[in-house]
Amino acid sequence: MQRKIVVLGTGGTIAGTSGEAGANVGYTAAQIGVQQLLAAVPGLERAAGGAIEAEQIAQIDSKDMDFAIWARLAQRCAAHLADARVAGIVITHGTDTLEETAWLLHGLIDAAKPVVLTCAMRPATALVPDGPQNLLDAVTLAAEPSARGVLVVAAGLVHGAREVSKVHPLRLAAFASGDAGPLGWVEAGRVRWAHGRAPEALAPSHAALLPGLDARAWPRVEIVLSHAGADGALVDWLVDKGVRGIVVAATGNGTLHRGLEAALARAVAAGVAVRVASRCPEGRMLEIHDAPWRDADGLSPVKARISLMLELMQAP
Ligand code: SIN
Repeated sequence: MQRKIVVLGTGGTIAGTSGEAGANVGYTAAQIGVQQLLAAVPGLERAAGGAIEAEQIAQIDSKDMDFAIWARLAQRCAAHLADARVAGIVITHGTDTLEETAWLLHGLIDAAKPVVLTCAMRPATALVPDGPQNLLDAVTLAAEPSARGVLVVAAGLVHGAREVSKVHPLRLAAFASGDAGPLGWVEAGRVRWAHGRAPEALAPSHAALLPGLDARAWPRVEIVLSHAGADGALVDWLVDKGVRGIVVAATGNGTLHRGLEAALARAVAAGVAVRVASRCPEGRMLEIHDAPWRDADGLSPVKARISLMLELMQAP
């Protein structure tokens, strides 16, 4: 039985082109098909230790990611992972919402095999594009026998779905894992795990949603920022419009402007689920006790929103 790595294309800068030869910015994302991306990288099959199969799931700038594409991507991942010949999956994705897709897949897919998202900060037509090396590293990681779970590789760094976030709008190493640091590195065609061992794959918390995901109405969950002068009017408006959940990007250790806090209490009384995440990019706020809302379990606001949508969808 020949093993294979499946590469699912969704677009992004890695598949972007520019009319201006060698430009790093001012390009159009999502122009080149996944098959063509693969053809531009020598040594991929060697890195895969077998065959490579490609499937185009979408062709978008990831700022435009939507629920239909998420559902299709998650279901195609699960279908491929169920194939005994598939050793791992690579997903080519735009950098802008990559961490959201990684966290969604982490919540939905039983990834006993590696599911590796990768991307690029420069378009394929750049003078020195980063996409080909990232793709090669992603295939190397997807073929690594000790790898499992939803992972991200970019600029040689391996990140986990929970911690990873985009931290820079321009530089090549645009992703970081905050206090946790990367899970490992891909160096000269080999994976080196931080602390000498591969991370465990955790069971997905919302796998039951996967089969009918494409037909479901996703609950409306919005993110609200606590900032100077936040008076809560936006929260009252959202409740009026029928929002099901609100994630607050709170100051520091989960503190809220008093005007916003009062509006959130009204939202909870109206049946809206509220989660509080910190707007600080690093560290982890402490657990919330004795409040009408829960903390976001250390997740960033965008990931807390995904968790709350899945939670609300799974609620009886
Ligand atoms: C995108 O997120 O699709 C465009 C930006 C990027 O990939 O860096």
